[in-house]
Amino acid sequence: MRRLLPGRRILRGPLILLALAVVVFSILFMTEPAAHSAVNTVSTDPADIAAGQVLFEAHCQSCHGYQGRGGVVSGAPALVNVGAAAADFYLTTGRMPLNAPNNEALRHHPVFSPAQIRELDAYVNALPQITGQGAAGPTIPTPEPLCSTAQQKTPSTADLATQDVGCVTLSEGQELYAVNCAQCHQAAGSGGMLSKGVVVPSLGNANVVQAYEAPLIGPKPMPIFTQLSHAQLSAIAQYVQYLHNPSNPGGFGISHFGPVAEGFIGILGGFVLLWFAARMIGNRG
Ligand code: HEC
Ligand code: HEC
Repeated sequence: MRRLLPGRRILRGPLILLALAVVVFSILFMTEPAAHSAVNTVSTDPADIAAGQVLFEAHCQSCHGYQGRGGVVSGAPALVNVGAAAADFYLTTGRMPLNAPNNEALRHHPVFSPAQIRELDAYVNALPQITGQGAAGPTIPTPEPLCSTAQQKTPSTADLATQDVGCVTLSEGQELYAVNCAQCHQAAGSGGMLSKGVVVPSLGNANVVQAYEAPLIGPKPMPIFTQLSHAQLSAIAQYVQYLHNPSNPGGFGISHFGPVAEGFIGILGGFVLLWFAARMIGNRG
């Protein structure tokens, strides 16, 4: 048997590497989060606002102050004019409530139910009226869905100048994402690091509303993208959803970590092949 398979020992090295690679990438693949989607709008129902106030007083006031006026805990901003989009983003991504004011606001499982979040959003949205201070910030957005090919109208010259094709396209979203978001969140939305140890989260958990809300409100240190229109923010948010399950026209996606992982696999595969070839043709005397 041994004589029939002279290459068996030679094969062992590459096979172990291959098995390791399979294990590592299956784990990466399994941890890839599933897409969620939820759409909600701000309630102006007095009953919701009153219920939101009760929740706010129990869970938020200790840091954000009476009626969200701030000035209680350093670092916890006033919420009077932040708008429902900010409340919704921080609550649906589980960033709020913080346990301690100097904790980093990271993504967690939401503490409140969707109904409670709706009530808190309603209360924060009503704060300018309640306090008589300023205007409300951005409201919870409703992203436009992607174009179906049938929807796309043949653009007139004027439409071409404004790039208005009547609905939101995925390629528009991809271009805007590459220009505005990829430098921090990476081409495939896998996240990364900024200077001073700031972690840029993966976009794999962000639903379409959250992916629209984030550039609208700018969760620090992410900037606010005031220059982007409703259609452009919708296109970006839809592209972020596409990134959750992208198609792989070039073959394996390698967990969509982007060019670094692809280069690494290329080099690893190349070395294994070269090493194997060298063993095959080499003469060990
Ligand atoms: C332990 C203190 C603490 C508690 C409790 C807390 N927050 Fe915060 N909150 C903070 C701090 C600190 C920040 C600033 C964090 C940051 O910018 O990363 C913040 C930021 C926010 C923001 C973003 C404001 C902006 O300028 O965009 C919102 C919205 C918010 N909190 C809502 C809430 C709500 C609603 C609750 C109650 C459910 C709550 N927070 C409970 C400390 C707290
Ligand atoms: C300067 C770097 C930077 C840029 C540019 C940037 N982001 Fe962010 N983004 C961040 C950081 C840092 C956070 C985490 C903020 C926090 O936790 O308070 C974040 C958080 C997010 C989140 C929340 C993710 C989650 O699951 O909790 C979304 C969604 C998001 N960004 C989308 C975008 C989109 C869309 C764009 C482009 C329009 C963009 N970001 C541009 C740095 C950036």
